[in-house]
Amino acid sequence: MTVPSDSNAAADRLRSTIRDAQTADVDDDSPCDDNETLSEGLVPCRFVLFGATGDLTHRKIVPALYSLSLQGLLPDGFHLVAFARRDKTDESFREDLRTSIREFAPSQPSDGPQWDKFASGVYYVRSNFDDPSGYVRLAERLKELDIVGSTPDRRLFYLATPPEYFSQIIENLGAAGLNNPVGNDGWSRIIIEKPFGSDLESARKLNAQLGPVFKEDQVYRIDHYLGKETVQNILVLRFANQIFEPLWNQKYIDNVQITVAETLGVEGRGDFFDSVGIARDVVQNHALQVLTLIGMEPPVSLTADAIRDEKVKVLRCIKPFAFEDVANWTVRGQYGPGASPSTGEELPGYRQEEKVDPYSSTETFAAFRFQLDNWRWAGVPFYVQAGKRLAKRTTSVRIQFKAVPEVLFARLACSDVSANVLTIRIQPDEGASLEICSKTPGPNVRVHPVKMDFQYGESFSSPIRDAYERLILDAIRGDASLFARNDEVEAAWAIMTPILDAWRDLSCPLFPNYPAGSWGPEAANNLLRDGAVWMPPG
Ligand code: BG6
Repeated sequence: MTVPSDSNAAADRLRSTIRDAQTADVDDDSPCDDNETLSEGLVPCRFVLFGATGDLTHRKIVPALYSLSLQGLLPDGFHLVAFARRDKTDESFREDLRTSIREFAPSQPSDGPQWDKFASGVYYVRSNFDDPSGYVRLAERLKELDIVGSTPDRRLFYLATPPEYFSQIIENLGAAGLNNPVGNDGWSRIIIEKPFGSDLESARKLNAQLGPVFKEDQVYRIDHYLGKETVQNILVLRFANQIFEPLWNQKYIDNVQITVAETLGVEGRGDFFDSVGIARDVVQNHALQVLTLIGMEPPVSLTADAIRDEKVKVLRCIKPFAFEDVANWTVRGQYGPGASPSTGEELPGYRQEEKVDPYSSTETFAAFRFQLDNWRWAGVPFYVQAGKRLAKRTTSVRIQFKAVPEVLFARLACSDVSANVLTIRIQPDEGASLEICSKTPGPNVRVHPVKMDFQYGESFSSPIRDAYERLILDAIRGDASLFARNDEVEAAWAIMTPILDAWRDLSCPLFPNYPAGSWGPEAANNLLRDGAVWMPPG
């Protein structure tokens, strides 16, 4: 709680009590030991990685797998089989992975017995994605590994390639019979990275190509935001606390703001980003996923389908944007040259970034006012903004409650009876805070807002796992709760596609329209009602 300093000692005592309780909870013999629970369902399997020489593999997937291995969370008999186009051997690929661990997970040991154990289970199959004979060789290699480990054929295919290769990989896996596991204990699953389509039509087409080869319960569409602890905590916060749910509706909530702000630019991915823009890259998936968790009804259980059913309902009740709504309720931006507010470092404009068209009209910032047409949310705007090269890195949700009536304390002079705000900090500085009004100490009755603050880092001793670790683990264990279902992805595209189409047809704003290191274009403020402003995050 941000309270007057004489209360800090009490707050410290409370934190220390919570910490002690936490330490007691994670006692090794506890039935709630996390690693013990997570290791349930971990059976020997083969992890086949397509796009194994790409950036995502080296930055995220392999560090996540290695970290799981170090924590003893990869099943015995786990093998990583890379399938990629470049000419490499098992040995040279293992060395590449060692280099990526040194670069992207420098705190992990990149030699010694732990590394050797992990690396000895890594294999490389060289093939073009459209070459059927490569898949036959892959099938043979998998069979050999099944025999060595005397395990049933359990395969997890991970498509981390550019999306244009998805269809041919899916088709070839099917043609090689790798989609169908053999025997009772076998299984075959496929993880598909985003972007899952680039509009409604392409997402439907991809789902239609997947359908005949992999059944829906074999498909894991990844959105790494769902693997973030703080995103999962939205459901806990809402449904494990009696105090929020009764207030979580249009009677008490004035508006919801979701911000996904990055300080980074396009980081060497200029060619990819320039062809998609922030609305496709971040809003259609990450921001809308957060919105569904804020907006959904309580699921009937915690099963994958019960949760996803409710999320889909939220997407379906977002009021579709007519052409004229797009001009009124969306704002696009692109950054020009600027400076970092924290270091003063000069930053290039988007059009000066590597691999970006110098006349590009791709948006690097987008803001929206969504309306959920249902009983719970009628009349409550959901504002969503996302942008690159903004002033501060933050992903947060601000639930702004309605103001108290203009009576009693609200009439007092020298007082600030602000409306309550619940802020969920997804990253960084993970946690949540609740702004409430309090009497300031003294002989007069004066009211000022104070903040109750929960920080993951202070309340829990265990570190926050990387989202990819959690998602890969879940896919191995066959838990699809944190993955997007086909109808969910299509429903999200059904909202975004008319907007993207209208942006194409409307004249483009004069880009650049915000300096790098700022909070985005001024016009984003026009989306907010009653002259309100975007809440400063954090
Ligand atoms: C990815 C986008 O999905 O998410 C990137 O393609 C973006 O452009 C990234 O930078 C943000 O993820 P995180 O976990 O850093 O918030």
